Amino acid sequence: MQNNIRRWRLARGLSQEELGRRVGLSKASISKLERGGVRLRDVTISRLVEALDVPAEALLGDYAAGPEQAADEAPGAHETDFGFRKVPIDEKRRLVRGVFSRVASDYDLMNDLMSAGIHRLWKNEMVAWLRPRPGIEVVDVAGGTGDIAFRILERAGGAAAGVRVTVLDANPDMLAVGRERAFDRGLCDGLDWLCGDAEALPLADRGVDAYTIAFGIRNVPRIEAALAEARRVLRPGGRFLCLEFSHVVVPGLDALYDAYSFNLLPTLGAVVAGDRDAYQYLVESIRRFPDQETFAEMIRAAGLGQVRYRNLSGGIAAIHSAWRI
Ligand SMILES: C[S@@+](CC[C@H](N)C(=O)[O-])C[C@H]1O[C@@H](n2cnc3c(N)ncnc32)[C@H](O)[C@@H]1O
Repeated sequence: MQNNIRRWRLARGLSQEELGRRVGLSKASISKLERGGVRLRDVTISRLVEALDVPAEALLGDYAAGPEQAADEAPGAHETDFGFRKVPIDEKRRLVRGVFSRVASDYDLMNDLMSAGIHRLWKNEMVAWLRPRPGIEVVDVAGGTGDIAFRILERAGGAAAGVRVTVLDANPDMLAVGRERAFDRGLCDGLDWLCGDAEALPLADRGVDAYTIAFGIRNVPRIEAALAEARRVLRPGGRFLCLEFSHVVVPGLDALYDAYSFNLLPTLGAVVAGDRDAYQYLVESIRRFPDQETFAEMIRAAGLGQVRYRNLSGGIAAIHSAWRI
């Protein structure tokens, strides 16, 4: 299928390198895109539209009629979990986006209420394990309202110490709340806010020292694809850290935690955020997420090394650490 990227790039007087820099891709990737050699993803399209200042239909040419699908990616060909339901992969993306758009304004308050503030300690623990140093470049994927990014920036000495954190999230509403919070805290420098998908990061190969993701990966339809992207964007020697709900390992705590999750949580969601379904999804998606060992294996399978994990609060959550060797 033909697209008009080359025509518009030349019309704007840009080299492939310059366009690549603006949209976070390599020169080689721009060249492939122009030849129609790769499928255009929504996130790439929106960044190209912005960088070239051109309407999407004009840019896309034949693509507008329906982007080419990889043979094994026909719509509906694959299903995934959305909580306890099976849905097509694209449908999960849409549903997850809906959930976080609905909860964005109450997200931080609900986190504190649901966990009695414990999520803050877990996030501190993750950033402590990262031990970010001055000059570090990090991408915080599914970074939402910025909790992890703020901690990294503050702990490593801020923008003045050359720290850069890109907060990447699929949901513009979550990012908008994050930007406001950053502004309120006076954290304007050292942070970039980027709308994008964990399965197709709009970032260059080997461009960051650390990849962090907190309570995000269970929402991604194809976890393997997100892990492959994590490896791709990490520099050799770079660090991967994932904080996620996990499986309780303390006898007795599981029954208590189940009762809390399935009864209290959705009710809290209904009363405080006016959205029982969003919090029912949260509970179900936690149950569906692989246990500590299985997830560690998935990280190894993505080509990352020295995989280790730490349980938090008896395994209610866990942090997985790995390195790009
Ligand atoms: C539970 S929130 C976590 C936010 C933040 N990391 C924190 O710990 O507070 C999950 C975030 O993942 C984002 N998300 C879901 N699917 C995503 C995807 N495929 N790519 C990038 N972000 C995604 C959502 O928009 C949401 O902001």
